[in-house]
Parts: sequence; structure tokens; C-alpha cells
Amino acid sequence: MTPLLPIDWAALWRAQVAAEHAQYERLCDPRLRPGPDWWATQAEQFHRRSRAVSHTDALLQAALARVHPGATVLDIGAGTGRYALPLARAGAHVIAIDSSPAMLHYLQQEAAAEALPITIIAERWETSTVPVADLAICAHVLYPIADAELFLRKLDAHARHCWLLLNYEAPTSWMAPLWRVAYGEERLPLPGALEALALLHQLGIDAHLTPIPNTVTLRFASLDEALAEIRVRLCLASTPERDTRLREALTTLLEPLPDGSLRAPQPPHSALITWDGAPTRQG
Ligand SMILES: C[S@@+](CC[C@H](N)C(=O)[O-])C[C@H]1O[C@@H](n2cnc3c(N)ncnc32)[C@H](O)[C@@H]1O
Repeated sequence: MTPLLPIDWAALWRAQVAAEHAQYERLCDPRLRPGPDWWATQAEQFHRRSRAVSHTDALLQAALARVHPGATVLDIGAGTGRYALPLARAGAHVIAIDSSPAMLHYLQQEAAAEALPITIIAERWETSTVPVADLAICAHVLYPIADAELFLRKLDAHARHCWLLLNYEAPTSWMAPLWRVAYGEERLPLPGALEALALLHQLGIDAHLTPIPNTVTLRFASLDEALAEIRVRLCLASTPERDTRLREALTTLLEPLPDGSLRAPQPPHSALITWDGAPTRQG
């Protein structure tokens, strides 16, 4: 039998991210692009949404069952603290690493108010200096990282157990048709969970994938709120004609809920990818 063509998953990942970024650069109006902290305009909303669903979050439940008081946890791309805060409340010492000061602001506020044992590192994971931890979690961070190999190798080296949470398609993929409405072309996809699993195996890491209920919930209070967020995401100025077309597309895409809010389409499952990190494998 002819062997399958070898695929360089690290190169494929890099190429996919580069193509997606290049499309953004080509289409998005430079005057409307976010500043150096991409999350600055999104952090408050992200914080509100992730708080609203935290008690049903499958990754959080699994992590709470695993960590014991005194355990050390790295939360890589910790955001506004969806995982770092409850894990610290459960007695873990959490090191929260994130490159966005806007996201960390919310985490910091709550951690300080409750005097929680969280060390905050406002830096990119790739350049941060951290000790080896019992558990590393990294939820919905990897999709747009060009050098996924460097990111994953460092994760592997810094925890006895590694948990990587991703969706099979990036959580923003539901917006792809809106790019067609705005720009006449569909948004190019970012890599997701299956590509990450393949890359880990290429790196010699025996990782396992378990489907868990989707941890992403995107709800909008109203069509106006959805449209405002789409304009930011797509770097679009408001024009009456385009807003009308986007409203129509959003009305088709979003599911109305009994409380009047609107939910973005999301698949039923996320993928939890787990493995024993290098400190465990090497004894
Ligand atoms: C979608 S949010 C997820 C936040 C959190 N893990 C959660 O699930 O609620 C992605 C976060 O990863 C952070 N991030 C992206 N690239 C990063 C990097 N290279 N190093 C550290 N943080 C990063 C962003 O600033 C953002 O806060």
C-alpha cells in the first residue's frame, strides 16, 4: 500500500494562520483596526459572558475535580479569569498568563477583592518565565498563533499535565458568511482541535482528545448589540445600506431565545486535548 503523504502540521498551521491574517490585512480598513491590545474593546463583554456560563462549564468542572488545595496551575491565555478565579477559590495557586492588559484588568480586580492566590503575568506565553506546574490549562487561545509548535512545546515543558481546549473550528467561524455580506468573500478558516492533535503527535506527544460540551456561548442582548460587535470584528464603518444587509444576515444566523436575547450558532462540542507533560514523561 502506498504510504500517506507526510504532512508537516506545524507548517500547515503556520500557513493557515498567515492566510487568515493576510485576508484581514487586505480587507479591513486600517483606520478601524483595533490598537495593540486587540481585546481592549471586547474585554468587558467577554467578561460578562464568561461569568454568565461559568457554573455549567465542562472544563471548569473537570479541573475543579482534579486540582487539590495547594496544587499549582498555569492558566495560559487566562483572559478575564473564567478558570483562574474559580480554581484559585478552590485552593489552587494559579499563575495566570495573558498578553492583554484589558482582559487581565477584570481578573486582577476580582483576585484582589477576594485576596486570591493568583500570580498575574501580563506577557505573551512564548516569552514568559514560569515554573513547572501540576496542571496547565489553555482554553481557546491557540487558533491564531502562527508558531503553534513553539507554543505547544513550551506548554509541554512547563506542566506535569497539560489540558488544551479548542473547538474543531475557531469560535468566530460562525461569522464567516458575514464577511461575504461585507466584503464579497468568505472568511478563511483558522486551524482548530484536530490540527492541534495532529501537530502534538508530530511533536512526539501522545495526546488524547475528549469531546466535551461546548464551552463557548455567544449571546447578544439585541440585534443592535450583535451588529455593533460585528462591525468591530470586521472593521466596518456604519453605512445604512451595509447595515441593512448585515442585519438581515444576522437575523438568519442568530437564534432568538425566550428571554429576547440572540444566540450565535455554535457546535455542541469542544475538544479537550490532554497529555502528560515532559516533566512527567521524563520522570
Ligand atoms: C478567547 S480568550 C480566552 C480566555 C480564557 N482562556 C477563557 O477561555 O475564558 C483568548 C485569550 O488569550 C490571550 N492570548 C492570545 N495569545 C496569547 C499569547 N501568545 N500569550 C498569552 N495570552 C494570549 C488573549 O489576550 C485572550 O485573553
